[in-house]
Amino acid sequence: MNIDGKNILVTGGAGFIGSHLVDLLMREGCRVRVLDSLVNGKLENLDRHKNSTKFEFIRGDIRKPATFTSAMENTEVVFHLACLGVRHSIKHPFENQRVNAEGTFLVLKQAHKAGVKKFIYCSSSEVYGSAEHVPMSEAHPTRPCTIYGASKLAGEAYTRAFYTTYGVNTVIVRLFNTYGPRSHHEHNVGELIPKSIVRALNGKPVLLFGDGSQTRDFTYVEDSAKSLVEAARCDDALGQTFNVGSDFEIAIEEVAKLILKITGSSTQIEHDKNRPGDISRLHADSTAFRKLTGWVPKISFEEGLTRTFRWFNSRPEELSVLLGQEKGINWE
Ligand SMILES: NC(=O)c1ccc[n+]([C@@H]2O[C@H](COP(=O)([O-])OP(=O)(O)OC[C@H]3O[C@@H](n4cnc5c(N)ncnc54)[C@H](O)[C@@H]3O)[C@@H](O)[C@H]2O)c1
Repeated sequence: MNIDGKNILVTGGAGFIGSHLVDLLMREGCRVRVLDSLVNGKLENLDRHKNSTKFEFIRGDIRKPATFTSAMENTEVVFHLACLGVRHSIKHPFENQRVNAEGTFLVLKQAHKAGVKKFIYCSSSEVYGSAEHVPMSEAHPTRPCTIYGASKLAGEAYTRAFYTTYGVNTVIVRLFNTYGPRSHHEHNVGELIPKSIVRALNGKPVLLFGDGSQTRDFTYVEDSAKSLVEAARCDDALGQTFNVGSDFEIAIEEVAKLILKITGSSTQIEHDKNRPGDISRLHADSTAFRKLTGWVPKISFEEGLTRTFRWFNSRPEELSVLLGQEKGINWE
């Protein structure tokens, strides 16, 4: 499917990954509508598009049907990214599953009603739980450790059901960990890399929860956003579920060391208690997606970390303000 010039709806488009996806779609000449409640998204992420006639922002909640009257109008392709995060799910499990699971059901229902041509569901490696073997292909068992992972998996199940029962043209993309400019350092959405950069830039120790041996598979955000676009373009992907990662495993202790090197910080790494439900190992096998679509990640981990560091370092806010928003233990 050629998506150039199409009418696109991006739920969660004011968020971290969503706003990079919007940048890419706008570059491809699409007409882009964003639906976001701004609970964690920021309008400044979309600033560069606000005067474009091809761009529209709707502030609304995916759980409210009235939201969709204008949001789905003439929409041809939906990228569904709106969600609440893993740390939020620890303290607010009910709300988390309502947005991530039921919310996904509601977006699918509205997309079906509107007769959209494609629906891309942005899922997560959290649906797997911890790796039982590596690398992890799509055949790896899905045994999520958190309500977040379980709710993302429920969203997948609804997506498949709309494909098989109602013929909605869906593709599920399981992104592994994503990082880059606009990633969250703040309160309960704060992630390892942005939190650590903000702490290091302020001369505070980098904080790891657990012994630091947990591994992840990180992809730079522009590469992740590109994978979602490739999923929409590829008609052979319909009805399928794909892993998207760098297929490169790294321990978070090593990530912290790299951040200290890149930021030039002489602070230390400190360890604190484990996060409940934390996953010990993730290592993607994205072969199926790469073969089908030709997608390959372009940005190396060191290059991506350097770009992320530069972005935080150039923020107009004082670094101390960013530090004040960073909560250390951020799930309680
Ligand atoms: N960041 C990662 O490492 C990662 C990894 C795998 C998958 N994902 C997936 O990518 C997607 C985007 O994640 P992100 O990291 O950009 O997070 P994010 O929090 O920056 O983006 C989510 C957006 O959804 C919006 N939102 C939340 N609840 C809403 C509601 N009820 N109605 C409307 N909008 C709502 C938020 O305001 C936010 O802008 C999610 O679906 C997530 O599961 C992220």
